[in-house]
Amino acid sequence: MNLGVLISGRGTNLQALIDACALPDYPAKIAVVISNNPEAAGLDRAAGAGLETQVVDHRSFASKAEFEDALDEALQAHDVELVCLAGFMRLLSASLVEKWRDRMINIHPSLLPAFRGLDTHEKALAAGVRVHGCTVHFVRPEMDVGPILLQAAVPVLGGDDADRLAARVLAKEHIIYPHAVRLIAEGRAKVVDERVEIDGLPKPAGLA
Ligand code: GRF
Repeated sequence: MNLGVLISGRGTNLQALIDACALPDYPAKIAVVISNNPEAAGLDRAAGAGLETQVVDHRSFASKAEFEDALDEALQAHDVELVCLAGFMRLLSASLVEKWRDRMINIHPSLLPAFRGLDTHEKALAAGVRVHGCTVHFVRPEMDVGPILLQAAVPVLGGDDADRLAARVLAKEHIIYPHAVRLIAEGRAKVVDERVEIDGLPKPAGLA
């Protein structure tokens, strides 16, 4: 399966996907890495791995629609089948999201539906939760909403600050993102009634 990875920054989740794609039995490959930010460190990771990169800088378009048309064109030009948002910091409009419905996923650093948006680790600490984590979900027009593919939890420990907690969560992100991509690429995960069914994983009792 051809992946298009969209980034804006350091690209550690991109790196996890690059590493996974290097495994002999991995069922996906990165067709293009697109950044809206020409300075994104993730672009160097991509180039270092010999991947195609493209900068689609939102600041060089007169409108959001034109920016998104350029993004869409870049994805199509590389025959992308699954879009992976990996620290991509632009909110996409409903029309682009709907165009890629069930073919676009995101990784978010909280156990959704808790703590949508930015500063999730600060929010988790402020709320006093005992467990925190990360979520891979299919993208819907509303920010950080959509059918959940995978989640991983970490404990919140005494003495944690946002950085320590973020590091613990990030290590889990790097595990579940490539795994979620594998499930999709192997045809083992599909959206049914806005929940994700995974082959071999029984549905919770009480669900139709
Ligand atoms: C990660 O925490 C991810 O969950 C969030 O943005 C951050 C991106 O980090 N969406 P990186 O660029 O993958 O290192």
